[in-house]
Amino acid sequence: MAKPKILITRGWPAECEARAARDYDATLNADDAPLDTDQMRAALADYDAVCPTVTDALPADLFEGSPRAWIIGNFGVGYNHIDVAAAKAAGIAVSNTPGVLTDCTADIALTLMLMIARRAGEGERMVRAGAWHGWTPTQLIGTKLSGKTLGIVGMGRIGIATARRAQHGFGMKVVYYNRSEVAAERLQGLDATRLPSIDAVCEAADMVSLHLPGGGENSGMIDAARLDLIGPEGFLINTARGDVVDEAALTAALEAGRIRGAGLDVFAKEPHVPDALRHLDNVVLLPHLGSATAETRAAMGHMVLDNLDAFFAGKPLPNPVG
Ligand code: DGY
Repeated sequence: MAKPKILITRGWPAECEARAARDYDATLNADDAPLDTDQMRAALADYDAVCPTVTDALPADLFEGSPRAWIIGNFGVGYNHIDVAAAKAAGIAVSNTPGVLTDCTADIALTLMLMIARRAGEGERMVRAGAWHGWTPTQLIGTKLSGKTLGIVGMGRIGIATARRAQHGFGMKVVYYNRSEVAAERLQGLDATRLPSIDAVCEAADMVSLHLPGGGENSGMIDAARLDLIGPEGFLINTARGDVVDEAALTAALEAGRIRGAGLDVFAKEPHVPDALRHLDNVVLLPHLGSATAETRAAMGHMVLDNLDAFFAGKPLPNPVG
């Protein structure tokens, strides 16, 4: 039997590309250039499986006209770039890569918290610019994490991992909002208080960290009113999806000092980062590094292939979406 024909839309870790090329009739993207809409439409028409990432948009209209694809194996846990309902309606299965990027994404959330609270980005820019003229008692004074309250919005795997690091590593108190109750065993060893609303978390926390999917009703969730609840002593951290935050409202709040600072690893229209944000000192900006370690990216690639293997062997998907 011919091997299934699969397309991997971006460059993957070498060991995962080697596995794909060994087990499938695989097309790799040696140039690592993002596909445009027409190329993605053609891919769905030409391949049995397409393996996209967060940089690929798969809106509903791409699934019209009975494409050839059987499965979309997303390289990533977040899948708001895929219209999963439309894929399902076209009879196409969708999988993702949960779990393997939890630790690394939580690490980046802590990186951002430390960088913004301790003004590490500003300090690094000062040293690189040759503008550091020696230690002074009042230079680049930040604030401690210890004893502060971390507010988690979205207490899933990554939210919990972030809370554990913040509490056990840095002595932070933890409050959180999650739509549904979180099973007690998942919170074992963590002293965390569930609050009734996102507003309550924004009001109670010194540092609000977002850990929920983008798109749909989450889009624009952190707006001017919620930024005002975070307040002039508070910080916002986003390692989830850029669209969860109203970027214009955030920029205005940072400019006016209505919040103290922000740490962002994700943006609404990546790789675009609004100029106004790039010119502010009280924000740390990272290029979507959450899962960017060799170990995690390899685990993600293998997980995509595990899902394809199961699918083409007629077995249930280990990580189905939708
Ligand atoms: C994820 O897995 O969702 C990361 O943000 C990369 O897409």
